[in-house]
This record gives sequence, C-alpha cells and structure tokens, in this order.
Amino acid sequence: MSEAKFITLEGGEGVGKTTNLQFIEHYLASRKIEFIRTREPGGTPAGEAIRNLLLGLEGLGPEAELLLVFAARAQHVDQVIRPALAAGSWVVSDRFTDASYAYQGGGRGLDPAAIGFLENWVQKGLHPDLTLLLDAPVEIGLARAKRRGGPADRFELEVPVFFTKVRQAYLERAECYPERIKVIDAARPLAEVQADIARHLDALRPS
Ligand SMILES: Nc1ncnc2c1ncn2[C@@H]1O[C@H](COP(=O)(O)OP(=O)(O)OP(=O)(O)O)[C@@H](O)[C@H]1O
Ligand SMILES: [Mg+2]
Repeated sequence: MSEAKFITLEGGEGVGKTTNLQFIEHYLASRKIEFIRTREPGGTPAGEAIRNLLLGLEGLGPEAELLLVFAARAQHVDQVIRPALAAGSWVVSDRFTDASYAYQGGGRGLDPAAIGFLENWVQKGLHPDLTLLLDAPVEIGLARAKRRGGPADRFELEVPVFFTKVRQAYLERAECYPERIKVIDAARPLAEVQADIARHLDALRPS
C-alpha cells in the first residue's frame, strides 16, 4: 500500500492557491486516491475561530499573531492532519507552516528561530511531503484577489512592501528546501500552471 502524502499549497495573496487546490482534488479523485482538503489558519472548529480573529481583530501584535497561528496549527495537526495520514488518507492543505515563515517571519519581521521552535514543538517532525509554491509578482496576485472581490481582510490591507517581503521569504524557503518546495511560476495561464502541478504530483506518486 502506498504511503499517504501531505501536500501544501503556498504563495502570496491571489496567486491561485484555492483555484489550484481544486485541480489537485480532481487529480487525486480521478486516480481514486483518498484525500482530505483542509486549510490554514483553520481546519478545525477552534482553528476556524482563530482564523476569524487573525483576519479581523484590530491591534494584534506580531508575536500574538504568530502564537495564534500556531495555536490553530496545533489543533489542526493533532486532530486532522496526523489522524488522516495515519488512516491512509492524503492531506492537501491551503497553506501551512511555510506561510508562518513568509508572513510572520518575512512580512512582520519576527525571528525565524522563534518560528522554528514552535514548528518543532507543535509538529514533532511532521512536514509536508510536497509544497507547491505559487509565485507571481505581488501586483499580479493583488490584482487577481481584487478582481475576485469580497471584503479585504487584515492581511490584504497591508502595504505593498509587506507582500514583497512575504514573497521574498517564500522564495528563500524554497531555496533552503528544494527537494520539498517546488516553485511554480503562477503568472502564466492556468493551464500551464496546472501542467506543472500535475508533473510534480506524478513525481510524488510511487511508481
Ligand atoms: N494562472 C492564473 N491566471 C489567471 N487568473 C488566475 C490564475 N490563477 C488564479 N486566477 C484567478 O485569480 C483569482 C485568485 O485566485 P485564488 O482565489 O485561487 O487565489 P488564492 O491564492 O487562493 O488567494 P488568497 O490568498 O486570497 O486566498 C481567482 O479569481 C482565480 O480565478
Ligand atoms: Mg485562497
């Protein structure tokens, strides 16, 4: 029996994470691979409540933000991700810990060592098998998110330099973990982006 895989989708605002997650769901379902779809922050009742705080609460400091993200993640890992993988189900998550390095580390300027401590403490060796980093110039992602509509959340209201730092931090993560994190040029048409994603998924499946 093949081992269940843990896949995460990362990238800045509006690069296409949620859109491509649907593509991955279709890919897995058509190959009869059992999976669950989840997201961060969120994925559990407590996590979704924390998500609302993170996206809406005014006056939240960077440290409080980081701790809330990891509080949600602790619930998510223990109650959803580990049990699913143990039961043989693949897990596909819209964002995971690389987003903490990008947003709270890069964007907010928090010490990556603090993030690393929380990562080890909460995840206890659990890491994604594959991370698809959708990368596009900040203006492209923001324009797409804007076109999609809906009210802007606390992050979407940030200044452009914040998103530039987020993007940079994501790319640095990918340089550090080239085996796990695959950078995909998400500025291209969706069909090209998804051809790349399929290629990475093909490589992940045992032959
Ligand atoms: N490669 C692409 N080319 C053109 N439009 C795209 C592409 N990928 C996604 N889009 C469109 O851009 C918008 C944002 O995509 P999506 O919601 O998937 O991004 P996201 O990364 O999940 O955003 P957020 O960070 O806000 O959750 C959607 O309207 C989607 O249809
Ligand atoms: Mg999304």
